[in-house]
Amino acid sequence: MHPMLNIAVRAARKAGNLIAKNYETPDAVEASQKGSNDFVTNVDRDAERLIIEVIRKSYPQHTIIGEESGELTAEDQDVQWIIDPLDGTTNFIKRLPHFAVSIAVRIKGRTEVAVVYDPMRNELFSAVRGQGAQLNGYRLRGSNARDLDGTILATGFPFKQKQHAATYMKLVGKLFTQCADFRRTGSAALDLCYVAAGRVDGYFEIGLKPWDFAGGELIAREAGALVTDFTGNHGFMTSGNIVAGNPRVVKAMLASMRDELSDALKR
Ligand code: IPD
Ligand code: CA
Ligand code: CA
Ligand code: CA
Repeated sequence: MHPMLNIAVRAARKAGNLIAKNYETPDAVEASQKGSNDFVTNVDRDAERLIIEVIRKSYPQHTIIGEESGELTAEDQDVQWIIDPLDGTTNFIKRLPHFAVSIAVRIKGRTEVAVVYDPMRNELFSAVRGQGAQLNGYRLRGSNARDLDGTILATGFPFKQKQHAATYMKLVGKLFTQCADFRRTGSAALDLCYVAAGRVDGYFEIGLKPWDFAGGELIAREAGALVTDFTGNHGFMTSGNIVAGNPRVVKAMLASMRDELSDALKR
């Protein structure tokens, strides 16, 4: 196994177990507000601390970027570990058992290793660049839909950026006339892994952060999916506007979305 994958898996499992244990004791969970409609708990922070501890033990020289700690610069800034300790915090708080730990390693800006772990289902998604994607050791392959007809698409509402609400509703409305149905699961990392597994045919969301998609993006790509911004380019790395699916589904989604996009989302 790739040595960094080994460490990423160990860290994700440790954090996942901590999250699962706390899910059983809701009275010990303290939620607070980070921003408008944006929540965090003591479990998010404890899980991130645990992950950082595991990484630091093997790779003290690497830079770590965590949702809750920000950037922890170290000697080697070419290697960055990008962590979302709990993707799906709102589900966790509401006791909806759908959330995950996401850990990715980027070397000189390119994602090399990714792990997304769903502790409630004991599902571990992983990928190493050029070596395919796996779920609990089994090779993943995405949907083979030819167009939007009959497809199930995943999405996330832009609940932190309601200035995009009207455009978002137009995009969903347009796509909805062409696909079979939508799912809104509440974990972007798992949405991307579900694209990888063919559990959904396509996915789009506005304004994700790097830790939301860093792991899932490599896993989806290694399962044969295309990941782009809303114009078919690579701008999602900075905009966080993301479309994923097999290349035919992405092409159909982009064509459907084109006429409804505001200028702010053309990247
Ligand atoms: C959120 C989840 C959610 C997505 C949000 C993310 P968090 O991450 O991935 O599905 O719609 O955009 O912020 O805050 O639970 O780690
Ligand atoms: Ca969060
Ligand atoms: Ca997240
Ligand atoms: Ca999070």
